[in-house]
Amino acid sequence: MRRAAIPCAVGALAALLLAATATQERERLGPLTRSRAVKLTRPDAPPPDPTNRVADDPRAARLGQFLFFDTRLSSTGKVSCATCHDPALAFADGKSLSEGVGRAGRNAPTALDAAHARWLFWDGRADSLWSQAVGPLENDDEMGGSRVGLARLVATDARVNAAYTALFGPPPDAADARRFPPHAKPDPWAPGDEGAREPSAAAKAWLAMDAQDRRAIDTLAANAGKAIAAYERRLTSRGSPFDRYLDALKKDDAAAEAEYPETAQRGLALFLGQAGCRSCHGGPFFTDGEFHNIGVPALDKTPPKDPGRFLGIERLRNDPFNAHGAFSDDREGERAQRIGALAQPPESWATFRTPSLRNVARTAPYMHQGQFAALKDVLHYYSTLEGTVPVGHHGETVIRALNLTEEQQADLVAFLETLSDPPLPAELTTAPRSPLLEPERAKR
Ligand code: HEC
Ligand code: HEC
Repeated sequence: MRRAAIPCAVGALAALLLAATATQERERLGPLTRSRAVKLTRPDAPPPDPTNRVADDPRAARLGQFLFFDTRLSSTGKVSCATCHDPALAFADGKSLSEGVGRAGRNAPTALDAAHARWLFWDGRADSLWSQAVGPLENDDEMGGSRVGLARLVATDARVNAAYTALFGPPPDAADARRFPPHAKPDPWAPGDEGAREPSAAAKAWLAMDAQDRRAIDTLAANAGKAIAAYERRLTSRGSPFDRYLDALKKDDAAAEAEYPETAQRGLALFLGQAGCRSCHGGPFFTDGEFHNIGVPALDKTPPKDPGRFLGIERLRNDPFNAHGAFSDDREGERAQRIGALAQPPESWATFRTPSLRNVARTAPYMHQGQFAALKDVLHYYSTLEGTVPVGHHGETVIRALNLTEEQQADLVAFLETLSDPPLPAELTTAPRSPLLEPERAKR
């Protein structure tokens, strides 16, 4: 709103005085909090991913978007990535434990902003978005599909085939039923089980295949993952009330600052200060990208048995699709080197990745098993540590009960609620009619 022009000097002085009292009424953030807050500005684009050479190719993003919504990837023909990463639910599913072909043991994190994460999954067992995507495709609780089934889809759907070929060259002729069984995939890696487990029927079929065919199918699965990742790299939203507040802080625009709710501002000050949230939820996505055990009891209240990061590290090292593996486009690069640098300390047992808090108000329920229904329950937990289970190897505590007042908890919730972005445009949230970009768009 514009104020009417003030005709004389006295009027101007009065207006100045008025403005001064208006800003006085409302306490502004102190300099330390302000300087911490502006560091929370989001980068314009996710970090580059040289392990995926099509990461920023619009044609790959289109094919990936098509596959993301394609239920034919699942064994039942009913489940797609979007079943559990539903654009209408901020790319999560609103359930404590995800349900696809079966029921998963963990809560589905949002796919929004996932391209910014260094490690994917609650246990960080994937180090790129593209390698992540192969997991749910074959997971029997999620999509129950297989890489050979995927290859058959790519080979037999003419438009998918064309989109794939334009990016990666012709796919293997997986329609050849003599060489390619309908459903074949290796069993998921588990610790110490080389040769110890009876392979599943799908794994037997996989092992019976020619080594060269297996290699071709693995390449195709990695490539499909790379296309899906190219799409997911676009799922970075912005424009939350908090972003607008940061803009106001940077411009030192008191009037724009005043549009940010006062409760949220108090919550922000707590978050960055006294409540200590920042020590783990720091940075533009409110996560250190690292793993901690904050003692949340399991959903079924049994003693903790999910090894979290401890096993995640081993699974990552043994994943042929990791950044150092044969299917990576940057096998010796920075991402690959991160794997070599990983230790597997016993303290990593039952630790989980600090989740991003961007859009958190849109992705209930919370924690790795969706243990808490609402943000106020999360704050109640941090405040009281009610029901907490002994943390860590020796039962030491990583966090202490914060004893926040009801008002402080409400302020923190009000702050978290300002991290919600407006929904993404429909062209990114719906299944495209074709996996192929129209020629004029592909040229961009
Ligand atoms: C049955 C529900 C389900 C389906 C279907 C599903 N996911 Fe997920 N997704 C999950 C769950 C649960 C997790 C967390 C699993 C874990 O941490 O062990 C997850 C994790 C992720 C993550 C990691 C996010 C992060 O912050 O670490 C991404 C990205 C993702 N899924 C993308 C996909 C893609 C792409 C597909 C399709 C190929 C897919 N998902 C299919 C449930 C599902
Ligand atoms: C010691 C590190 C640490 C501190 C300090 C911390 N958090 Fe967390 N936070 C985590 C981890 C790790 C998880 C996931 C835990 C799990 O799933 O078991 C989490 C989960 C959450 C979630 C659920 C998000 C989701 O998508 O499921 C919210 C909300 C949250 N924290 C807010 C806060 C607030 C507010 C504070 C300060 C009062 C805080 N956290 C302090 C590490 C921390």
